[in-house]
Amino acid sequence: MQPESSCHVVAMPYPGHGHINPMMNLCKLVAGKSNSILITIVLTEEWLGLIGSTTKPDNIRFATIPNVIPSEHVRGSDPKGFVMAVWNKMEEPFERLLDELQLAPTLIIADVSVPWAADVATRRNIPLAALWPMSALLFSVIYHFDLIVEHGHFPVNLSVNGDDIIDYIPGLSPIRARDLPTIVRFKEESEYYLKFLLRVFDKAKCVVFTSIYEIESKAIEAMKAKASFSIYTIGPATTYFKVKDSHSSTISSNGDLNYMTWLNLQPPNSVLYISMGSYLSISTSQMEEIEAGLRGSGVRFLWVARGATMLRLQEICGEKGLVVPWCNQLSVLCHPSVGGFLSHCGWNSTKEAILAGVPMLTFPIMNDQVPNAKMIVEDWKFGWRVKREFEEENLTTREEIKQLVQRFMSLESRERKQLEEKAKEIQKVCEREFADGGSFQNNIDSFTKSIVQHYPH
Ligand SMILES: *[C@@H]1O[C@H](CO)[C@@H](O)[C@H](O)[C@H]1NC(C)=O
Ligand SMILES: *[C@@H]1O[C@H](CO)[C@@H](O)[C@H](O)[C@H]1NC(C)=O
Ligand SMILES: *[C@@H]1O[C@H](CO)[C@@H](O)[C@H](O)[C@H]1NC(C)=O
Repeated sequence: MQPESSCHVVAMPYPGHGHINPMMNLCKLVAGKSNSILITIVLTEEWLGLIGSTTKPDNIRFATIPNVIPSEHVRGSDPKGFVMAVWNKMEEPFERLLDELQLAPTLIIADVSVPWAADVATRRNIPLAALWPMSALLFSVIYHFDLIVEHGHFPVNLSVNGDDIIDYIPGLSPIRARDLPTIVRFKEESEYYLKFLLRVFDKAKCVVFTSIYEIESKAIEAMKAKASFSIYTIGPATTYFKVKDSHSSTISSNGDLNYMTWLNLQPPNSVLYISMGSYLSISTSQMEEIEAGLRGSGVRFLWVARGATMLRLQEICGEKGLVVPWCNQLSVLCHPSVGGFLSHCGWNSTKEAILAGVPMLTFPIMNDQVPNAKMIVEDWKFGWRVKREFEEENLTTREEIKQLVQRFMSLESRERKQLEEKAKEIQKVCEREFADGGSFQNNIDSFTKSIVQHYPH
């Protein structure tokens, strides 16, 4: 306990990958700005085991709640069961924990995906701030869902209205219905989900976006004009500072890592880096096409894969490729030998590619990956689609993949040079965000200031 703390923030992240990191980053940034803020981050026992020993400032501490998620629902094997357990079973232990805190909380920061935090905050009369760890586009779509319903675009059925152009969401450039987040295709589920999210938006005093202001400024400004809460953008936050480190340390200090040693031996821009997130949603036959296409292309590649996929890949890849179960993605993307990124387009990976200035091949699988790919290809123009349409019955064939990868990696071609230019352009735009007086510092400063001013004891 820190007696001098004038504010006590309780942070409740969603207990999943892609959510914990952004919350940790946000808390570290805020804690670093003001000693008078004490932050308690609430983790499940499972997550405490994973990250409990990471270094953190003195004014951040961890508190735990039991693992409420039955092991048969662990993420991956039953994603829906996992979400339901988070939504239905975590509220009670969280409240018990609040009761036991010695210092009453003055603000709750909750991930938007733990919607019951809004109810707890209301019952206890504690102000709520929400963390939105995805794109501003996804936020806008959810926030303006009524418009989508009004225009008859809900639910989206690919064979009926998939090619309709959605051009009425404030701040968003025109987008085909099939490129919207896949939630718009599932009527019951999305209605349930939206009902939850809207409760958070109603209650929140402010929402913190982990988007990069400079690349989604129109969507963010349109939201600011309309929303009842204030909006702060903290971009990729600490990731950016790691990029800078990566540039200087890639070759020297990481030289002991196998894949870095291997990358050091490859010609500039010659390696395609491949990471497709979880493979669960890619059919085995599609995976086989991707593998055969890559092998046939003759392009060098570094592939992150686990389990059976990894073993199979190792057998087929020969000396042109390296397969690893894990790597420091940002360091890899920043390595001078890496010339492209084949990705499922998760938000984290999309931002890391932008920060590293690397052209992308997009293979979105579900959720926000689909609109992320649209932005990469159509708005920011530093990538091409591998999988042209989501959920098209037909596989993208090995021959198509082979040709596409060869074109994509032919460094002397005009179309390749254009991709590189666009990738560097958007990278530069993002650097402005971090310059003195850029939006990143301003946002984190004013968010911290608002916590100290508005939510003291
Ligand atoms: C992004 O994803 C990479 C690879 O999964 C991971 O190592 C990194 O910690 C993530 N970064 C953030 C900010 O979540
Ligand atoms: C989409 O529309 C087609 C054609 O009207 C219909 O056969 C199909 O069942 C619809 N799909 C869903 C998921 O509603
Ligand atoms: C999909 O596959 C079917 C059967 O192989 C073929 O007739 C059709 O032309 C294919 N469609 C596309 C868009 O390639």
